[in-house]
Amino acid sequence: MANKVLIIHGPNLNLLGQRETDIYGTVTLDEINAKLIMMGQDENMDVEIFQSNHEGEIVDKIQKAKGDIDFIIINPAAFTHYSVAIRDAIASVEIPTIEVHLSNIYKREEFRKKSVISSVVEGVICGFGSDSYYLALQQIGRI
Ligand code: DQA
Repeated sequence: MANKVLIIHGPNLNLLGQRETDIYGTVTLDEINAKLIMMGQDENMDVEIFQSNHEGEIVDKIQKAKGDIDFIIINPAAFTHYSVAIRDAIASVEIPTIEVHLSNIYKREEFRKKSVISSVVEGVICGFGSDSYYLALQQIGRI
C-alpha cells in the first residue's frame, strides 16, 4: 500500500514567490506543491497538501491525521518558534514527522534560532530553499 504523506505549510507560506524573496526565493507554493505531488507519484506515495495561516486549523489537521496518515512533513513557519499547541499535537498523534524550513533558521535573528517543534520530530531540514521539502520527502520510508 502507498505511504500516505501529509505536508503542512504554516502561515504566510501562501505568499512564497512574492514574500521576502531574498530570503525565501522566487519559487511559489503552487510550484513546490506540484513538484512534491509529482515526486510522490514517482515513489508510490499518496501526498496530501495543507496550508493554513491559523494555528488551530493546523492542530485540527494533525489530530485528524491519526490512523490515516503515515508521515507528516511540516513547515510550521512562524509557529515554529512559539506554538506549544502544534508541538503537543505532533507529540500526541505519534506519526513520524519531519520539520522543514526554507531558510537556515540558525543563521537569522535570535528569536528564530529556537524551535519548540524540533524535540518531537524525527529530524529537521533547513536552509536549502524549496529543496528542504524535496529532501524531506526523499527521507520518507527511511524513518
Ligand atoms: C520559515 C522560517 C520561519 O522563521 C519564518 O517565520 C517562516 C518561514 C522558513 O521556511 O524558513 O515563515 O519557516
